[in-house]
Order: sequence, then structure tokens, then C-alpha cells
Amino acid sequence: MCGIVGYLGHRDAYPILIKGLKRLEYRGYDSAGVALINDNGDMNIYKAKGKVVDLENVCSDKNISGCVGIAHTRWATHGEPSAINAHPHYSESKNLAIIHNGIIENYAQIKKNLISKGVHFVSETDTEVLVQLIEYIQVHKKLDLLTSVQVALRQVIGAYAIALLDKRNPNQIIAARKASPLVIGIGDNEFFLGSDASPIIEYTDKVVYLDDENIAVMRLGEDLQVTNIDNVKLNPDVQTVDIDLGQIEKGGFPHFMLKEIFEQPECLRNCMRGRISKKGVVLSAITDHREQLANAKRFIIVACGTSWHAGLIGKQLLETFCRIPVEVEYASEFRYRNPVVGPDDVVIAISQSGETADTLAAIKLAKEKGAFIYGICNAIGSSIARATDTGTYIHVGPEIGVASTKAFTGQVTVLLLLSLALAKERQTISCEEYNKVVKYLLKVPEAMKEVLKVNKRVADLSRIFTYAHNFLYLGRGYSYPVALEGALKLKEISYIHAEGYPAAEMKHGPIALIDSDMPVVVIATHNEMYEKILSNIQEIKARKGKVIAIVTKDDEVISKIADEVIELPDTLECLEPLLATIPLQLLAYHVAVCKGKNVDQPRNLAKSVTVE
Ligand code: AGP
Ligand code: GLU
Repeated sequence: MCGIVGYLGHRDAYPILIKGLKRLEYRGYDSAGVALINDNGDMNIYKAKGKVVDLENVCSDKNISGCVGIAHTRWATHGEPSAINAHPHYSESKNLAIIHNGIIENYAQIKKNLISKGVHFVSETDTEVLVQLIEYIQVHKKLDLLTSVQVALRQVIGAYAIALLDKRNPNQIIAARKASPLVIGIGDNEFFLGSDASPIIEYTDKVVYLDDENIAVMRLGEDLQVTNIDNVKLNPDVQTVDIDLGQIEKGGFPHFMLKEIFEQPECLRNCMRGRISKKGVVLSAITDHREQLANAKRFIIVACGTSWHAGLIGKQLLETFCRIPVEVEYASEFRYRNPVVGPDDVVIAISQSGETADTLAAIKLAKEKGAFIYGICNAIGSSIARATDTGTYIHVGPEIGVASTKAFTGQVTVLLLLSLALAKERQTISCEEYNKVVKYLLKVPEAMKEVLKVNKRVADLSRIFTYAHNFLYLGRGYSYPVALEGALKLKEISYIHAEGYPAAEMKHGPIALIDSDMPVVVIATHNEMYEKILSNIQEIKARKGKVIAIVTKDDEVISKIADEVIELPDTLECLEPLLATIPLQLLAYHVAVCKGKNVDQPRNLAKSVTVE
């Protein structure tokens, strides 16, 4: 999820490492660090919470010599952002240093096991567990470092891109990857390492993109060696890259927003990682606070903007599966109306940034009134995350585009996991229904990849509507909040006025707006209200409205009367928001691009509204 840089060669490593971290800053991060082995054989680690410039300040009066080093920008997943939790992490002997991108799912079990054997830990991170495990294996099984890494990685469950230094062998870097990208640059008797090619391409155009479960051994004066975790030797596929820096930062996409829309399948895998096992859904928040959460008399969801839309879906999920009443409140309204809240209430605060002032204030008010607070955040250790009694991180990685996309589907996913886990605790869901929803949920990332194939079609379609002045978005049930979210996406990046409405509400006024200049996006997927939404579409067509219908694949009725049709794979009704949102994100994106708007940083908007 964040930044890895490494260097081994004849040049001073520090300037190359720092410059490389700056090349990776676009990925978003909360802390940074560097490890260097100097000519005296000392290994020094320097770390700082905050920006790379803060790390430079820490290093300004330190010994930063050495021709071998690794450096890291962290996006915390386990352990809040701090200098102690920043990478690199020493092993206990301080002979090894590691940096890591990803999540070690089974870190808690490994850590408990190592502690029982007398290993001492310094940080709260999952990463430190890995370097301690590698050293424990190396020392107790008397193995070389490469073999120790192979043995350790065979025990690890999760995603990793790692780089490892051993101060007893300063002419070597060992790297490995699984599900997190890692690139090796091959120079003239020097090696470079990066999470992508951006820290590398100014020094060499010869690169090797590691594959999953590949381990690379870079040794000065030798050719690159690559094995898998079973020590099978592999031939590195050396490629010549011809890409410019700007292109890399957005992963080849023209904007961060489009990159983040396309990241959603992988983000949902990360969001669910370690939380769905053979035993079903396991959330540590429920394990630790079962009583408060499963026996809540009422849930009150407080949030703003897109997070508030996720909260509306959460209401339907929690009420459907847990049979607990849920109220969804704009945090800005909740905080000022002296709400009736008490110890029997659980307040769920949803916030991507974890810094939204209104949501933070709502939490503080609810806490004063005795409520138990559960947080759903993306930014680890953020103010909101720290203000809650417990919570679940969405783990979708830094969201750079101001218009929230992957965070929304991540929030909805966590709300679904919470609803399923609590419903099982309360026995308000049958085993059959529970297993069916979990089975379909696990298929959502693949279904999302299928939906993303409509991108070209939506891009073509958006040209027709670039000059519209108003849009209506309609949905029913789970799709009503999706309609609201689609309207928000369009208005915040294309500046076209758009409103979301429950489809049945058309008759109560909005239908007066319908004419041939009014595009109406209708989420009309196959579910129990299909016939009702069909009637709504017929009412719109009767008044010459232009209908863009989001339908279930192979729809045979609505697809014949709508002006434009976008098909989704079939799924369960409660999972539809995760799919139906994507074409609406793409529509907003492409209309905004056609209008030449600044998609990633729309006018007047901030990524995190930390003021009232
Ligand atoms: C979403 O596209 C907007 N950028 C905005 O509505 C955002 O969702 C809102 O400000 C809440 O932010 P938060 O999730 O970080 O609390
Ligand atoms: N899971 C690790 C941590 O929380 C690495 C996070 C990252 O990818 O930056 O420290």
C-alpha cells in the first residue's frame, strides 16, 4: 500500500533513497524511515512520523553514510502512525532490518508464539513480527538468511513486499513479494528497489517485476538471483521500461480517481483479508466488545457526505440482518440538536479520513451522553479512530482523489461484515442465508472486475450528457443510497447539478422537472421492486425524459425502453451497492473529463473537511 526504496552499489545510498521516497509520496503515507549500513559495518535506522521532509530533518545531524540501504513510507494498518511503528524495523539482535508493504494477517498468532519463546517486541506492527520470525528461524535452525526468509514466508498469511538488510552481510539486499508490487532495477554493478519503477527509472531502464512468492537476492558483483519460497530457482525476466514518471504515479491512469475506481476489486480483497475464515466473519471489534455491540438497543450512524451514504446502506444491512433499529444522522446536524442518546445506544462513526470535524464532534457528544462508539475509518490512528471505543479499519489504502470511490465500497463492505457477524451473534440470520451472503461477498471482487469492463461504454455515453444542466438519480431500497452517491459524484467533480431520490418519490414533486433535457439515471436491477421501478421508468419516458438504466445482465424489459443501458452481473440485493456504484463513479468521472474539470482536485473541495 505504500513506498519501498532500496539501493546497493557504489554510490552514496542516502540521497538515492530519499529521492526515491519522494517519488513515491503520491501514494499517500503517514511516516517514513531509512536503514543504512556504513563502511564501518554499523547499521543505522532513522525514522519519523509525518513527511519525508521530517525524516530528512531527523537525519540532518546523523551519520547517513553507506552504499547500501532501504527506505520506506508507511500507510499504517497495524499500530498507529508513530516513529516507533514506522519502518524499518530491527530484529531483536539488531542484525536485521526490514521494510514492508502489505498486511500480515496471522501476525498476532506468530507474535504470541515468539513472545512465549522469549522474543521482545518494540512496536505494535505486524511487520516487526516478520523480521523477528526470520531471525528466530535463522538463529534457532542455524540457517542462512535466504533460507530463513523462505521458511518464514511459508508460514505467513497475507500480503507483503519486503526488503531486508543483514549488517553482517552489507553487500546484499533480500527482497520478496506477494500481492504487493516490487520492482528491481539492474544497473552497472548496482541494484535499485522500488514499489514501482518511479524511484528507479532515472538510474536504469532494466527492471524485473517480481511475481508473487518470488524472493530476490541482490549481491554486489553478482547477477540477480530469484527463487520462489520453496527455493526453486527462477530466471528473472529483465524488461526495458519506457514510461514517464507522471504515468507511473497514477499507475498508468490519467487521474488518481480513475486509478482508485479500478483498484476497488483489490481494495475489497484487502478489506476482507483475514476477516472471513472457514468459521465465517471474524471482526476483532466484536471479539473484544461482543456485549456492547450484539446487545445494542439502537445504532446511530453519524457521518458526512459519501460516508453518510454508506451509512444509509449500513442501516438497511443492520436492520435486515440484526433486527436492531438504526438511525442515520448527518454528523453536522446531530451534534447541534441535543440528541436523545444514552448508554443503550451504539454510535457508528464512518469516516474515510478519520479527521472530519463534524463527525469527531458528534462522537464526543455521544460519548458524553454515555453511548458506546464504533468507528469505521480508513486512516489508521486518525483522530476519529482514536476517539472511538473500538472499530474496524477499511484497509483500502490511501485515497488521493478528493471524490471518494474505493473508500465508499470499503465502508459498505465493513458494514456488511459487521451486520453478518452481529446477526450470527444474535441468531437473527439462518445459517443458510449467512453462508449464502458470505459466498456471494467473496465473489464481489471478481464481479467488480466484470463491471469495470463498462468503462469504455460509459466514456462514450458520457459525451452525450456533457452539456446537461441537471441530472436525476433514482433508486429503491439498497439502491436509493447508491443513487444519492451517484448524484454526489457527478456534482462534486463535473459541477453539474444532480439530485438523488427514492424512485417512488418522483410522483411527489420531482417529476415536474422531467423533460427531454433531463437525463435520469435509474438503478433498476433485478430484485423484488423491479416492477415498481419499471413503472417509474415508464412515467419518465411518458414525459420524454432520457433514461440511463443500470440493469442486471440479460434484462429483457427495461433495457428495451431505456435510452441507455448498463448491465451488471447478477448478485444478491444486499451486495448490489458494491457493483451498481461503479458505473455511476465512471459516469461522473468521464463527464467531468469531457468538461475539462480538475477531476482529482475539484474546485472548492478538500479531501478532509477538518473545519466546521
Ligand atoms: C466524497 O466524495 C466527498 N469528498 C465528501 O462528501 C466526503 O465523503 C465527506 O467529506 C466525508 O469525509 P470522511 O469520510 O473523510 O469523513
Ligand atoms: N502493515 C504494515 C504496518 O502497518 C505495513 C503497512 C504499509 O503497507 O505501509 O506497518
